[in-house]
Amino acid sequence: MTEQHNQPATATDAIDRVSDRIKHDHRELEQYYNNIKSANRDDDKVKWQNMFVWELARHSIAEEIVVYPAFEKHVSNGQKMAEKDRAEHQQQVKEKLYEFQQMSPSDANFDPAIDSLWETLSQHITEEERDDLPELEKAIDSDMSGSLARSFHRTKHFVPTRSHPSAPDRPPFETAAGLLTTPLDKLMDMFRKFPDDSEKGSSK
Ligand SMILES: [Fe+2]
Repeated sequence: MTEQHNQPATATDAIDRVSDRIKHDHRELEQYYNNIKSANRDDDKVKWQNMFVWELARHSIAEEIVVYPAFEKHVSNGQKMAEKDRAEHQQQVKEKLYEFQQMSPSDANFDPAIDSLWETLSQHITEEERDDLPELEKAIDSDMSGSLARSFHRTKHFVPTRSHPSAPDRPPFETAAGLLTTPLDKLMDMFRKFPDDSEKGSSK
């Protein structure tokens, strides 16, 4: 028998290091990308497109609010790491995300747009997992990592659905600008078109 820890098994507690939580998001994004590509019906493509756009926007903004400042605070070359990541998110990922979110599956550019976005994003994911996150984990103890993981999780639940490349890219301005410029009807429309829980579990 292995030793049991007396902790409540909530989704938040199950993953308690910030790097694990971020990697978990990355795997989810990869699954949503694959689902967009493999869906046969336009309606399904749109649902996974909305899921992907929403998750990537929340993930990117939570990284900007919680993770990049942690690089700057705890890692010796963290300022450089944060600047590189902000530039990647702002100039490449967000602009491509902004273009892609407006496209319909019947658009001839739909597939090239998501492929180009994924290529840029997966490069960023690789660098983040290989270089940045291990540096951060080395520089902080497990309590701090757990605390950042919880902040990251909480922040994701308070960010807007759309990403605005023209908004100032340094927190807290981006969050405020993003929130203020998110049209409520667009937001509600996206909620209605989300996959339900049974569809979420399937990668086919
Ligand atoms: Fe990331």
